[in-house]
Amino acid sequence: MVLSMERWVGKVAVVTGASAGIGAAIAKQLVEHGLLVVGVARRKERIDELAKTLEGKKGKLFAFKADISIGEEIKAAFAWTTDNVGPVAILVNNAGIHYRTTIIDGDVEAWRKTIDVNLMATCIASKEAIHIMRKNNIDGHVININSILGHYIFKLPNLDIYPATKYGITALTETLRLEINSLKLKIKVTSVSPGVVNTEIFENMDRKQFDLVKNCMLNPEDIADGVVYALSTPPHVQVHEITIKPVGEDF
Ligand SMILES: NC(=O)c1ccc[n+]([C@@H]2O[C@H](COP(=O)([O-])OP(=O)(O)OC[C@H]3O[C@@H](n4cnc5c(N)ncnc54)[C@H](OP(=O)(O)O)[C@@H]3O)[C@@H](O)[C@H]2O)c1
Repeated sequence: MVLSMERWVGKVAVVTGASAGIGAAIAKQLVEHGLLVVGVARRKERIDELAKTLEGKKGKLFAFKADISIGEEIKAAFAWTTDNVGPVAILVNNAGIHYRTTIIDGDVEAWRKTIDVNLMATCIASKEAIHIMRKNNIDGHVININSILGHYIFKLPNLDIYPATKYGITALTETLRLEINSLKLKIKVTSVSPGVVNTEIFENMDRKQFDLVKNCMLNPEDIADGVVYALSTPPHVQVHEITIKPVGEDF
């Protein structure tokens, strides 16, 4: 199998949650591979800052401010992308949140927000992107940043509703793939499931929890490498699932 990013040069990618962590690392690598990347997040200024550091690279990073827990803002992001950059060829559903409470004592509004950002936004963005790909005859690629917690549950404190949203991503990825197949489209769907990655998502973790994982973490770039691998495969090859864990991770 010959791996190459050449077919994506000059094409448009939308990356949600590009203002930090894994999303920022993915946006950076896609720009370095020559893509026109629209980074979507609430902290647009952070994406603007990242874009400045990428000036002179093969591709370009654009920033769009949106709260993806609001469906209309997701739609606005795709409309702006189509009008100002071009039709989307790659969607990376990356943005995610985790409040780290419990099911028994957690806050219902926090759960709702988690479902909206982690799961509903992925559904809405995928719908928007695939409509645009179909309209423009683009054999595109949807990448869902999942988690090992989307495949099995292990003993970590305060998991709350987060694994339920990631199990939803596992189901959504496969359901979407079947729909795409039944429509005979050539759009690929890949789930990328990281173990622990050193990002700001752990900022609200208490010390005891953090000590459980701090010696065994991936870097955001490791996940971006996995995304680029899935995108680099030839048109007839589809990577369904990539699990990426740090060596020595116990769960
Ligand atoms: N870190 C890990 O150990 C790990 C492991 C497995 C899976 N993951 C998954 O990887 C993905 C990225 O996580 P990360 O670790 O890189 O987290 P992070 O550093 O906290 O970054 C989260 C990103 O999501 C964006 N986001 C959150 N709420 C949003 C909203 N309402 N609207 C728009 N954007 C929003 C944030 O942007 P703004 O705040 O600027 O809006 C930020 O760019 C998530 O799906 C997460 O579940 C992470």
